[in-house]
Amino acid sequence: MNIILLGPPGAGKGTQSAGLVERHGMRQLSTGDMLRAAVKAGTPVGMRAKEVMERGELVSDEIVSDLIDAELASMAPATGAIFDGYPRTAAQADALDAILARNGRTLDHVIELEVNEDALVERITGRFSCGNCGALYHETANPPKVDGVCDICGSTEFKRRPDDNEETVRMRMQEYRAKTAPILPGYEARGIVTRVDGMAAIDTVAEEVDAILKG
Ligand code: AP5
Repeated sequence: MNIILLGPPGAGKGTQSAGLVERHGMRQLSTGDMLRAAVKAGTPVGMRAKEVMERGELVSDEIVSDLIDAELASMAPATGAIFDGYPRTAAQADALDAILARNGRTLDHVIELEVNEDALVERITGRFSCGNCGALYHETANPPKVDGVCDICGSTEFKRRPDDNEETVRMRMQEYRAKTAPILPGYEARGIVTRVDGMAAIDTVAEEVDAILKG
């Protein structure tokens, strides 16, 4: 099964992807995570992407589609893919169709996480992650069970993303409205879009996503 999780910054794409990986053994293909890894490693792609990401703008279509292409080609055919934060433009949506076809895959579902934009700034500015294993948390909605200790790996090191500030979040939302939301009608015409209330509790959203996958 191959699915797209679509929604604005902070909608819960990464949170729900992590749950799907754990529950169903699918693989998360997050272009945001891939780009952050490239920035950290100081690769040529990372050097080109760094400032664009810090401004909250979109990195070039070619760079992100190449990342997805390489990642998908390395996957076992039976492993389902979760596209998290990709595609984000019409050109990326076209590229994904071509990449899937080359790999003998089809797109089964586009799940749109519907959220109230006012809540997103709070979600994003409250977000942090484990510095060791990357597990995602939120100061109030999803804190570690023991304060200051990662639930998954026990690390006491946490970090925040440099683009998780109010100004950049607003730019990211603007980019979503202008460039990403317009790709939805194309998927709607194929009858593969389902909307989920992304404002519900994390577990409730996960149950709804699972129900969609079960058909
Ligand atoms: P990316 O990393 O993809 O960021 P994003 O789309 O802005 O999404 P986020 O990761 O911020 O949010 P999310 O929906 O995953 O929410 P999360 O689950 O963390 O992209 C970053 C940048 O990289 C872009 O701005 C761009 O520059 C570049 N880029 C990436 N992909 C690109 C592409 N394809 N093309 C071009 N450029 C690209 O949840 C957020 C917080 O809320 C967490 O703290 C979580 O605990 C909490 N939370 C989650 N769900 C709930 C819930 N139901 N209730 C309460 N709290 C919740």
